[in-house]
Amino acid sequence: MILGFLAKGGSGKSSVSSQMALYLNQEKATVLAVDADHNMDLAYNISGGEIPKLNHYSESLPDIAKELSL
Ligand SMILES: Nc1ncnc2c1ncn2[C@@H]1O[C@H](COP(=O)(O)OP(=O)(O)OP(=O)(O)O)[C@@H](O)[C@H]1O
Ligand SMILES: [Mg+2]
Repeated sequence: MILGFLAKGGSGKSSVSSQMALYLNQEKATVLAVDADHNMDLAYNISGGEIPKLNHYSESLPDIAKELSL
């Protein structure tokens, strides 16, 4: 299942997507959360309030999936 959170600024995308990712992880689902916003609020929220270190895996989704063994 792929979920996208898209809407105008300040509508709650980061808040809802963060809670959804944390909930699904708690329910033992395999979760890949992709933060495409330069403000990195999703990444900040689900990492427990720390700016995460950025890892560059690849340029395309298939290559990223391969790199992460998904
Ligand atoms: N369910 C809610 N009830 C009350 N306040 C909320 C709720 N969801 C989000 N907010 C508040 O609304 C504001 C915007 O939320 P959020 O940052 O999640 O939106 P966003 O769409 O990701 O914004 P941006 O486009 O700026 O990244 C925040 O101050 C947040 O605390
Ligand atoms: Mg946001």
